[in-house]
Amino acid sequence: MKVAVLGAAGGIGQALALLLKTQLPSGSELTLYDIAPVTPGVAVDLSHIPTDVKITGFAGEDATPALEGADIVLISAGVARKPGMDRSDLFNVNAGIVKNLVQQIAKTCPTACIGVITNPVNTTVAIAAEVLKKAGVYNKDKLFGVSTLDIIRSNTFVAELKGKNAADVNVPVIGGHSGVTILPLLSHVPDVSFTDDEVSALTTRIQNAGTEVVEAKAGGGSATLSMGLAAARFCLSLVRAMKGEAGVVECAYVEGDGEYARFFAQPLLLGKNGIVERQSPGVLSAFEKQALEGLIDTLKKDIELGVDFVNR
Ligand SMILES: NC(=O)c1ccc[n+]([C@@H]2O[C@H](COP(=O)([O-])OP(=O)(O)OC[C@H]3O[C@@H](n4cnc5c(N)ncnc54)[C@H](O)[C@@H]3O)[C@@H](O)[C@H]2O)c1
Repeated sequence: MKVAVLGAAGGIGQALALLLKTQLPSGSELTLYDIAPVTPGVAVDLSHIPTDVKITGFAGEDATPALEGADIVLISAGVARKPGMDRSDLFNVNAGIVKNLVQQIAKTCPTACIGVITNPVNTTVAIAAEVLKKAGVYNKDKLFGVSTLDIIRSNTFVAELKGKNAADVNVPVIGGHSGVTILPLLSHVPDVSFTDDEVSALTTRIQNAGTEVVEAKAGGGSATLSMGLAAARFCLSLVRAMKGEAGVVECAYVEGDGEYARFFAQPLLLGKNGIVERQSPGVLSAFEKQALEGLIDTLKKDIELGVDFVNR
């Protein structure tokens, strides 16, 4: 199994690379790519950790050496939020970066599974899909917007509030990956009940959790360590499923049947070739139904922005 991380010298990229170097199965290969000249050094640094995961790093304009033969490519290249910005403010810079990198993926490893971390995910995943389509290599079962951070935050906040072990909590999060489009399904958490006020306050906190970090970092960027962990969890689940483990389910933002919007975050059964089954969000509470109706327009606009960016 070969995993490539693009944007590997950044805050997320380095945390992610560390976790993958220590947790990928023995015999895996990990390649790091970033425009930053430090990148080969990040790989040399990690190569001193005694695991059976071969690691190499590449810098410069060309991602090809990192992409050759990749089974999974994770993209965290781009700029991060500063206080006062929302994820859509990142669009102008990050859209071009994602477009360029996905063009290189389409050329060098067109059958790889791709996980897009770069924000705004609601839009950058649409960009990636359109680029792959133009290149004639789009497989909607292999393109993911990594929304795992919303799930791990939900698990943490629910566990804190209800005095549970966070490792035992698993909140499905559907919709998109910004502001009101993030919809945690608190009614689906077994053995826990919430008052209406708790549901409302928790939902708002989960939707704004990224901003909590951006403000606390006071201009120093957005979530990197928790995001590195979230991306590693998603990647390691995908690796297990691609190696044949049955029953691996993760939520991610993917192209589905279009019932709500062309791209939608939902639970996915993963397998050897990416998505095996898009699972229905199931029965929603009245609060969740209303929130779902309220997010669809925003999500559709975010998606349209990405489609137009590639096809204009
Ligand atoms: N999906 C999520 O839940 C989530 C969470 C937090 C942050 N993010 C996003 O992830 C991205 C990265 O965040 P970060 O904190 O690691 O930022 P960072 O600034 O620390 O790192 C970004 C890296 O991308 C590199 N880069 C820029 N242009 C590149 C290109 N063309 N090719 C290769 N590498 C390039 C930079 O050199 C840098 O090392 C941001 O867009 C951020 O908003 C996503």
